Amino acid sequence: MTVTEIEPDSAELEASAAVETAQAAGGIAAVRVSRVVRETADAVSLELTPDPAHAARFSYRPGQFLTLRIPSDLTGSVSRCYSLSSAPHEDGPLKVTVKRTADGYGSNWLCDNAAEGLALDVLPPAGLFTPASLDTDLLLFAGGSGITPVLSILKSVLAQGSGQVALIYANQHEQAVIFATELAELAAAYPDRLVVLHWLQSVQGLPAVDQLAALARPWAGRETFVCGPGLFMDAVAAAMTALGADRKRVHIEKFVSLSGNPFEIDTAAEVDEDGDTATVRVELDGENHEFAWPRAQVLLDVLLAKGVDAPYSCREGACSACVCRVVSGEVTMRRNEILEDADIADGYVLACQAVPVTDDVSVTYS
Ligand SMILES: Cc1cc2nc3c(=O)[nH]c(=O)nc-3n(C[C@H](O)[C@H](O)[C@H](O)COP(=O)(O)OP(=O)(O)OC[C@H]3O[C@@H](n4cnc5c(N)ncnc54)[C@H](O)[C@@H]3O)c2cc1C
Ligand code: FES
Repeated sequence: MTVTEIEPDSAELEASAAVETAQAAGGIAAVRVSRVVRETADAVSLELTPDPAHAARFSYRPGQFLTLRIPSDLTGSVSRCYSLSSAPHEDGPLKVTVKRTADGYGSNWLCDNAAEGLALDVLPPAGLFTPASLDTDLLLFAGGSGITPVLSILKSVLAQGSGQVALIYANQHEQAVIFATELAELAAAYPDRLVVLHWLQSVQGLPAVDQLAALARPWAGRETFVCGPGLFMDAVAAAMTALGADRKRVHIEKFVSLSGNPFEIDTAAEVDEDGDTATVRVELDGENHEFAWPRAQVLLDVLLAKGVDAPYSCREGACSACVCRVVSGEVTMRRNEILEDADIADGYVLACQAVPVTDDVSVTYS
């Protein structure tokens, strides 16, 4: 047999250099599947161990998510976000829980192919769906796989905080309930602090707005976190409005698929400092940076091109992984599918969509 070595052409070399630059800039990290747990007929948990060189980039807050690069013969890869069902204090492996989506590509690939030893590229933990304090009383709603970030929040509050927790958890039927045993054990361990109410569609039908409002009424004034299918979250939002809840205290995580692929984007794009620029000061991970910010470029591109390890996932204004807060000056966002008016009023912006309005802007990621 003859083996012919083929020299990579210049385009391949450029593409490989772009990936290396992205990794060096801190975008992409490597993990390995260390264990696969079959949770239900349709859901698996993947325990992930970061490459030791990247381990420091995996500290996270309960409710945050990872972005996984999933191989595809058709497109090279697809990117999908999966919330961490593990909790930071557990000090064990990172764990994501994936439920099959009917006819979906990424979720079924993971459920069918993920095995111990599988190496995956990921973007580190990100997201805003996390309580400001673990000492706050919480009302949690989860539908199906929406339990994933909610479980992480719930476990963190019980183990690390003093908050009381009520969980309303809807599923199609009993066998579809992910983490049923873990929740029962937690409810037994914390009888004075945790209430878990299950809603089974097979028994009770789809939960209607007035039924959800009746269930939630005892805890309606609490900080609320909601994750699940769109119709479920719409019904919960309507129920909370009917109960007079402050919309700013109702946090919603939407499980959508990314349409772009952040792993395939060249993070080393040039920064054109010769044209019309503003100045941006950035505080991230305890370090301060100052750069010229071309008015035609979004903040995230400038930071990545300068080698700053700024967080991101979708790069299309849909996930909030890149969120930062404007401390002074003004920016505008090209697209925003995720931040609420209340977040924007508090100064939050999406770095992947932000361009400067004023000549001087200061932002912080803390
Ligand atoms: C912040 C966040 C957190 C999330 N957390 C979770 C979680 O904890 N658990 C969970 O289960 N889900 C979670 N999700 C949802 C998850 O990211 C996916 O949207 C979900 O798993 C469905 O993806 P899918 O690829 O299976 O389905 P779809 O996105 O519906 O897949 C269909 C798409 O794949 C394309 N496609 C089909 N075949 C191929 C192929 N061979 N190659 C390439 N493309 C192909 C099709 O064109 C189509 O666009 C989360 C989403 C977000 C945004
Ligand atoms: S990276 Fe997803 S909103 Fe900016």
